[in-house]
Amino acid sequence: MFKKTAKALAYALSISVASFVQAADPIVIKFSHVVAENTPKGQGALLFKKLAEERLPGKVSVEVYPNSSLFGDGKEMEALLLGDVHLLAPSLAKFEHYAKPIQIFDLPFLFDSLEAVDRFQQGPHGQALLKSMESKNILGLAYWHNGMRQMSANKPLREPKDARGLKFRVQASQVLEEQFKAVRANPRKMSFAEVYQGLQTGVVNGTENTWSNYESQKVHEVQKYITESDHGVIDYMVIANAKFWSGLPSDIRQELDRIMVEVAVAVNEQAAALNREAKATIAAAGTTEIITLTPQQRAQWREAMQPVWKKFENDIGADLIKAAEASNR
Ligand code: LMR
Repeated sequence: MFKKTAKALAYALSISVASFVQAADPIVIKFSHVVAENTPKGQGALLFKKLAEERLPGKVSVEVYPNSSLFGDGKEMEALLLGDVHLLAPSLAKFEHYAKPIQIFDLPFLFDSLEAVDRFQQGPHGQALLKSMESKNILGLAYWHNGMRQMSANKPLREPKDARGLKFRVQASQVLEEQFKAVRANPRKMSFAEVYQGLQTGVVNGTENTWSNYESQKVHEVQKYITESDHGVIDYMVIANAKFWSGLPSDIRQELDRIMVEVAVAVNEQAAALNREAKATIAAAGTTEIITLTPQQRAQWREAMQPVWKKFENDIGADLIKAAEASNR
């Protein structure tokens, strides 16, 4: 008799535990970023959400907060470290306080193309940079592309002297500040969310960004000229709060790691097309003249800005700069 009762109790207990486990709330992963959804990063965040919730139903719920709607520049990294958000994908220009070698991606005219950036990122040096902030509880999960940086103002920028005296919005990056000082312009650090209004009100006269960021924020509507300079790159590192990520149940973390690899491939395959479409939309809008530099003019910008490399060689490392140059082929 006793055995039967014990068996019945054990069975009842196993059912109730199983139902409790099944009923356990999904793990909520908050993914915050500062750009619009119709951009490489915006699409990447949405794809990550889609795949994570499809492959881990009931176990994971991803909340995406685009356009600085949860945390903007200057707040998002603090929020990640406090655990108020779990995933970010900041521009590589926004890591100078956490790992100075990541400033390599800001050096003007270092990378000849996005393909060269990709070769460097996928090589040993790029992969090591993903791990370079773990002591600060920041885990690099992947690189996502956006595109090459263009420059703009309300006067044509054809030669470095055209930028003289203008106030240019830059990301929170010393390298980018020095880049514009090198052409005797006045850089102004400003969060991405403030760029349109800063240009509209004249707080700044010009800026730099990728075609997709210009178009998705309608920045071209307040800039009469965009020069296709390809003088730098805006790419992203997808980062997690390291303690949060390593604390996930191993089966869930392994699946999310697989999804992160898939999403990076998809984002990087799409980035060039999204920027081509954005450039075409801007050209069709008629608000902005797109200036193409002659080889001589582009060489003048390169000659004026390249001395910035030397200024940051100690922080970044001469070997890393050589490795990046070698990725140009
Ligand atoms: C910027 O601040 O201009 C960029 O970092 C925005 C972005 O994340 O693409």
